[in-house]
Amino acid sequence: MNERPHVAVVGATGAVGIEMIKTLEKREFPVGKLTLLASARSVGKTLKFRGQDITVKELTKNSFSGIDIALFSAGGSISKEFAPIAAQAGCVVVDNSSAFRMDEKVPLVIPEINAADVKLHKGIIANPNCTTAITLMALYPLHKALGCKRIFASSYQAVSGTGAKAIEELRRQVDQLVHGQKVTKEVYPHQIAFNVLPHVDSFLATGYTKEEMKMENEGRKIMHHPNFRASVTCVRVPVYRAHSVAVSAEFEKLVTVEAALAVLKEAPGLDVVDNPAKAEYPLPLYQSDQYNCAVGRLRKDCALDNGLCFWVSGDQLLKGAALNAVQIAEELLNEQTVPDLAGVSKTQQSCAV
Ligand SMILES: NC(=O)c1ccc[n+]([C@@H]2O[C@H](COP(=O)([O-])OP(=O)(O)OC[C@H]3O[C@@H](n4cnc5c(N)ncnc54)[C@H](OP(=O)(O)O)[C@@H]3O)[C@@H](O)[C@H]2O)c1
Repeated sequence: MNERPHVAVVGATGAVGIEMIKTLEKREFPVGKLTLLASARSVGKTLKFRGQDITVKELTKNSFSGIDIALFSAGGSISKEFAPIAAQAGCVVVDNSSAFRMDEKVPLVIPEINAADVKLHKGIIANPNCTTAITLMALYPLHKALGCKRIFASSYQAVSGTGAKAIEELRRQVDQLVHGQKVTKEVYPHQIAFNVLPHVDSFLATGYTKEEMKMENEGRKIMHHPNFRASVTCVRVPVYRAHSVAVSAEFEKLVTVEAALAVLKEAPGLDVVDNPAKAEYPLPLYQSDQYNCAVGRLRKDCALDNGLCFWVSGDQLLKGAALNAVQIAEELLNEQTVPDLAGVSKTQQSCAV
């Protein structure tokens, strides 16, 4: 890999793409050249990178010649069509969509958990689902220490998780309601302002949604834990940015709040905010724009043996998307990657990807 790679952001004008550009700059990723790609609608728009205006170009099959790393965030169908073309052109793709996450030839990576899997790529690396990523930032360290059998969880997902149009929909509906006007809706099937929708992604025959099943499926692959089980209800809430998840987790080993806190305080990319007496717990408002996720409300689960309840919040545009993608790109440049596979058997490592 070129030490100062030519990087492309595909979907550069979207909610995630904009954060990718900011994250590359903030983390001083050694970008040699930056190419910004989006649909024909955005051609000619400019976006700032390191103080310079970069003009957005249209994504085409010929966009990838000379590009070393392409960060994709333009939706699943664009990824399915263009990621293989980019990989074929010799570029490494980090894909934010769900298109390749469960493909056994494609590593699915959260660098704090399975950075070593990056090395197994064959041109495409997948970024996990945002709710799964935020949950695993707290769950994986506990799993490593105590062996997680299963979780029951409910998510509280921000509208920016649906993209730029959904942010605009919440703004517009709040404005309409404040001014006594009729509410109009384009993105969600119901009004999202001053409401909550127990509906994220499309429904499956089981009654769960696709989003809800990502926790179990992607969690198994990322944690190298083929027996992990997760029953999840995903809920869209009128929050602009940062997802939260209420988790009840059951462990193999005896769990105490003190032991769990000790583990979580050492976990990379995670802050512990847990002082209920002072009303201190993670809040999506304060997690917005933060790289770290935060965990709190730790307590023994009164309905599970060896169970622990916790609440985790994180900026899904960052740890659930742009930051994680840039961290993966950093791993690509880092030849000294030290695998964090403590507690994971050789068999689990090899069957995971
Ligand atoms: N939002 C999140 O929190 C989040 C988290 C994790 C993963 N993701 C995933 O990231 C992807 C993007 O999400 P987003 O929230 O950023 O969506 P978004 O705000 O709607 O942005 C979509 C981007 O894709 C581009 N695009 C659309 N059609 C295109 C085409 N035919 N050719 C080239 N570019 C095209 C758009 O360009 P124009 O502006 O030109 O239309 C825009 O830049 C999705 O796969 C999503 O599942 C999102």
